[in-house]
Amino acid sequence: MIKEAMYIKSLTDLKDKPDVLPQILLLGRSNVGKSSFINSLTNRKNLARVSKTPGKTLLLNFYLINQNFYLVDAPGYGYARRSKSLKDDFIIMIEKFLLDNQDLLFVCLLIDFKVGPTKDDLNTYQFLRQLGREVIVVATKKDKIPKTKQFKQEKLIKGMLSNPEIFIAISNVTKENIDKVETLFLSRIDE
Ligand code: GTP
Ligand code: MG
Repeated sequence: MIKEAMYIKSLTDLKDKPDVLPQILLLGRSNVGKSSFINSLTNRKNLARVSKTPGKTLLLNFYLINQNFYLVDAPGYGYARRSKSLKDDFIIMIEKFLLDNQDLLFVCLLIDFKVGPTKDDLNTYQFLRQLGREVIVVATKKDKIPKTKQFKQEKLIKGMLSNPEIFIAISNVTKENIDKVETLFLSRIDE
């Protein structure tokens, strides 16, 4: 179980790394629900900042879980209103973080269950696979699709991603399947 969660720091410079512990990086476009997902997983209301304004998460934010691993909240991609130079800086930082990081266990790619994978999502997924990074796909906002249509939607999304090894659809509102993700993450940390 996730018993303890603590905000540790926000990185602007990758040289400023936190302690050597396993990390799970959350990636996804702006507004997909990354910060909400951290709050769901840690059973906290305001640990990570949730916003109605896309593009709120601007830095790599490290949350220490159970004193033994980090969840890393990243800025959302595909947010056009952020200035171009700033946007490029973040992309460069995340790429560096992915390329040179032995502590990173895997990437959790968040996709909107209702919207489905966008072009940016598909590009990111492919990029991560090309780097040889393991990707766990979590589809958020499952509550937005009526129960009768959920099976079909899941099949459609999985197909677009060429059937990823691990795919879990969740809701940060109803908390559906949050326990599944929690169990999965904790089992991977203990391996
Ligand atoms: P950035 O930090 O801008 O990249 O966004 P984010 O990915 O961290 O998204 P955030 O958690 O801030 O959520 C964006 C909006 O979506 C908020 O209004 C949330 O309340 C809403 N939201 C997040 N998850 C869910 C969900 O599972 N279901 C529904 N219905 N709304 C959600
Ligand atoms: Mg956020």
